[in-house]
Amino acid sequence: MKIREIILGAGFIMLIAGLSYGFHNKHSLEDKAVDIQPTPGFPEEIMNIVIHSCYDCHSGESQNQQAKTALNFSGWNEYKTAKQVQLLTEMNEVIKEGNMPPGRYLTGNPDKKLSEEQVNLMTKWTKESADKLLEQ
Ligand code: HEC
Repeated sequence: MKIREIILGAGFIMLIAGLSYGFHNKHSLEDKAVDIQPTPGFPEEIMNIVIHSCYDCHSGESQNQQAKTALNFSGWNEYKTAKQVQLLTEMNEVIKEGNMPPGRYLTGNPDKKLSEEQVNLMTKWTKESADKLLEQ
């Protein structure tokens, strides 16, 4: 094989690999189950909601720096207790007010919207967890 063909061939393979990587990346993080580290200490039903509706932005895998800086579930246990209480309180508020997940995101991902039951579960759990941490 001529060197030119080899270079062209290698370029083609890289193009295909790049395209398939880009395509794969467009999928929700939820599809990449292997990469998801559940947050220790979160009950399963809460974790399922958080992974489904929040992890696209608020996890270590997220490309959304602003969201990750505000709240990163993958680093939950590195937050000090006071910070966890603050975040649980904020979660309670944004969920009660229907501000998270953001409306613009829900337009393209309507299945990520929290159901009434999920809102109730999340608000109850965030409140109870914050109270429990404050008692310690
Ligand atoms: C499409 C991306 C996206 C998703 C999905 C998302 N968030 Fe956010 N979230 C953001 C961004 C961006 C910010 C930072 C807003 C800012 O800095 O003003 C944020 C901020 C927050 C904050 C910090 C409080 C605040 O008002 O800044 C909390 C708490 C929060 N999100 C909770 C959640 C919860 C709980 C879910 C899932 C039910 C969720 N978010 C889903 C993008 C997202």
